[in-house]
Amino acid sequence: MKQAEQLTAIKEYTIQKLGQDKTGHGMDHINRVVKMSKRLAMGEKVDPFLPIVAAYLHDTIDEKLVDNVEAAKQELVDYLKQNDFSDEQVKIIMDVINNISFAHTLDKEEVKLSIIGQIVRDADWLDAIGTIGITRAIYYGGGHHEKIYDPAIKPRHNMSREEYRNLANETIINHFDEKLLHLKDMMNTETAKKIANHRQQVMLDFLDEFHAEWDAKM
Ligand code: ADP
Ligand code: NI
Repeated sequence: MKQAEQLTAIKEYTIQKLGQDKTGHGMDHINRVVKMSKRLAMGEKVDPFLPIVAAYLHDTIDEKLVDNVEAAKQELVDYLKQNDFSDEQVKIIMDVINNISFAHTLDKEEVKLSIIGQIVRDADWLDAIGTIGITRAIYYGGGHHEKIYDPAIKPRHNMSREEYRNLANETIINHFDEKLLHLKDMMNTETAKKIANHRQQVMLDFLDEFHAEWDAKM
């Protein structure tokens, strides 16, 4: 099977799993992460094939999106094998998508990601910051009936994975403090670091303006 055919099969699988998603993990998010993974791979002089495959698949086994994570993983492994991915490639892909979520990085014993994992995680996180990140946070917060902002609810830091998962009383603006503003310093690749610096400034300007308007100062 040629790589182009494998990519078509992977894309179809992702559309089947996430095509109807309304939580900010739909195909628009996936397509941006794919495009960015390709760009970051080029910057690292890494063959973009596996980064692209892993980027397509990275949210298809997410615990927030599937009922049974183990079953979703098995289904994916079977699908990869049916589509001529070698055992070694399957292992690389599964390693990447098992380990890239933000919640994972809150674990004490964090695993060192492969370069492919670093690329896809950077690409995923770049999609959570800048104007796209602002838009996704508002979209997600609205969908989850969060308040826009409440100065009485203080942002929490240094949360464990469990605490982060069970966050109650989140506001959209607090989410910047608790997660989005930290992502810049967690980038791995040089290209992503540069892009993240720019996107960070966009978020900081947005937040300054937001607080000024909130207090009727602007
Ligand atoms: P990931 O794609 O890393 O799994 P999530 O599923 O946690 O990210 O979030 C999807 C999008 O929604 C991201 O852009 C994220 O920043 C945003 N988001 C997640 N949790 C919240 C929240 N409590 N309030 C506002 N936005 C959120
Ligand atoms: Ni994602």
